[in-house]
Amino acid sequence: TPRVFSGIQPSGNLHLGNYLGALKRFVDMQGPEMETVYCMVDLHAITVWQDPKELAHSTRELCAGFIAAGIDPEQSILINQSQVPEHAQLAWIFNCVARMGWMQRMTQWKDKAGKNQQNASLGLFAYPSLMAADILIYHATHVPVGEDQKQHLELTRDIAIKFNHDYGIDFFPVTEPVIEGAATRVMSLRDGSKKMSKSDPSDMSRINMTDDADTIAQKIRKAKTDPDALPSEIDGLEGRPEARNLINIYAALADQSVDQVLAEVGGKQFGEFKPMLAELAVARLAPISAEMARLMDDQAEIDRILARGAERARAITAPILRQTYDIVGMVSSA
Ligand code: TYM
Repeated sequence: TPRVFSGIQPSGNLHLGNYLGALKRFVDMQGPEMETVYCMVDLHAITVWQDPKELAHSTRELCAGFIAAGIDPEQSILINQSQVPEHAQLAWIFNCVARMGWMQRMTQWKDKAGKNQQNASLGLFAYPSLMAADILIYHATHVPVGEDQKQHLELTRDIAIKFNHDYGIDFFPVTEPVIEGAATRVMSLRDGSKKMSKSDPSDMSRINMTDDADTIAQKIRKAKTDPDALPSEIDGLEGRPEARNLINIYAALADQSVDQVLAEVGGKQFGEFKPMLAELAVARLAPISAEMARLMDDQAEIDRILARGAERARAITAPILRQTYDIVGMVSSA
């Protein structure tokens, strides 16, 4: 059976981009014909400073978010990265396979480190190597992500190929990115050229999964648009990034194609479309945030779910790490 792996950082709030680009698609991929492993990547989160109490809180809240959105912890393996030590152990091997130049080319590194690269953490630089380990420690074949992770997945393939080549063995699979759907790149509500992100200083730029109905409606009402009516065909979105973004969001929330949505709303003004979008967003998101809050009332249960997930995960990761060590020539204690 094909194996799916993906992860989300427990840093700050889950937002609509995470939900539509990743989480909702994780739910769609669950099923008897797939083995699914989903991960809160706390080791990735600390590549930039995280307050310890907030990190623990965000990790549990993210776990609640996964479950509230529809991840079934029986059907999927739901884990916190640091509880499955083989991720970090394989990452060290990959640090010795990957090249400095590969990491230096990563646009996320360049964006996040900014001008002062000397002052960024070493972990931030090596981030993609740990991400490759997350995926390959399961021999995962399919990785659902948003558009912004594409370059990291290409690097994951490069690491697998170089490892296999260096050691002369066909061991790690060459992973397929799964970047699909209407909302692989949800943009800021304030600026159609920037992606929606948790690090944007303006909270009006994003919809958080924990926002209440009034806040969601207000953010959509204030979202930047242009003065024209909506087109009835996709060509009409050319050069209109804000209109395109709201239509993509609508399509993803409604489980419709962009063509279907435009056939329905073409000709309408934003004054009419925005309340429709707000109503749909609230209808889809409010039950998730209510369920997240309910699950957060029993954190001991969340911790049990993660402990159980880690145990199931390690049944897969421990043998793959041992095989990797054998290939590399590490003497076993057994
Ligand atoms: P992270 O935590 O930044 O984002 C989690 C997921 O949400 C997607 N995403 C978006 N999709 C559409 N529009 C947006 N505006 C938007 N913002 C975020 C991301 O593409 C991602 O799928 N490096 C990863 C976490 C990670 C991982 C992995 C993913 C660690 N190991 C292994 C896959 C496989 C990250 O920082 O995602």
